[in-house]
Amino acid sequence: MTVADAAGGTERATAAGGAATPVVTPPPGAAAPGTAEARITVHDLTMAYGSFVLMQDLNFTIRRGSIFVIMGGSGCGKTTLLKHMIGLVEPARGEILYGEESFTRATEDRRQELLRSFGVTYQQGALWSSKTLAESVALPLEQYTDLSSREVREICELKLALVGLKGFEEYYPSQISGGMRKRAGLARAMALDPDVLFFDEPSAGLDPISSHLLDDLIVELRDSLGSTIVMVTHELPSIFAIADDSVFLDTGTRTMAARGNPRDLLRNCENPTVHRFLTRGAEDEPGRRPA
Ligand SMILES: Nc1ncnc2c1ncn2[C@@H]1O[C@H](COP(=O)(O)OP(=O)(O)O)[C@@H](O)[C@H]1O
Ligand SMILES: [Mg+2]
Repeated sequence: MTVADAAGGTERATAAGGAATPVVTPPPGAAAPGTAEARITVHDLTMAYGSFVLMQDLNFTIRRGSIFVIMGGSGCGKTTLLKHMIGLVEPARGEILYGEESFTRATEDRRQELLRSFGVTYQQGALWSSKTLAESVALPLEQYTDLSSREVREICELKLALVGLKGFEEYYPSQISGGMRKRAGLARAMALDPDVLFFDEPSAGLDPISSHLLDDLIVELRDSLGSTIVMVTHELPSIFAIADDSVFLDTGTRTMAARGNPRDLLRNCENPTVHRFLTRGAEDEPGRRPA
């Protein structure tokens, strides 16, 4: 698929037909595209697989240092949006910018350079079953740096210690729990001290306690590395506990239905789909984790 010229074209993708749903509650102090505060800008993005348009007219910015959540029902295109941000899927129209620089229009070399400052953990985990945790964390360091094997080893130990896995360097993924595997995946994503971290359903399949610990860890990472965090999740406790900004992708209208701090959206957003998403299970879950 070719990348549409977002600046030049005026036509709209028509597959979804409907008018764009108004954006609800712009967050106070939201950064405009192209300002220093906007770490990532999604501009006029249409996402499609072949002729199947998943989402269109996506326009939002992600502020530096925020924990930004991509919300929406199953199959609406959350993972696909992350894939657009890291160049695994090309926009049908529009572009992704980092700072003021277009990632979509960058040369392959430049993209690789930008990707080096990102850390990614995938929905299905990022560890190799045949490698120890230390070997998995070492991979990006060996691939992208000229560090000596001793330096690589030291960094691996440090990163694993940061996620509470000191002493587990020589373990294989099959020898540790699901929560520990998720944390090891984080250690790997952090190997190169990324400026932007992408997580796809980081707490999927975890029990509530491990999930809570992972949330705390993500906040700590943001605070210590100053990274910008972009996270796909539909776990309401995580969303309300750690997200400070979000976008909601609505399958019905095939565009974004809301954006802003999820706690504000819970109070103010009148879009019924968003409201239903944010209050689901609320009746039988009165003790939702406080933010
Ligand atoms: N590589 C692909 N080719 C064609 N369709 C895809 C591909 N990947 C995902 N899809 C479809 O796109 C839709 C959105 O998928 P995805 O982004 O994984 O959703 P989510 O992460 O929100 O659950 C789904 O209907 C899925 O079947
Ligand atoms: Mg997904």
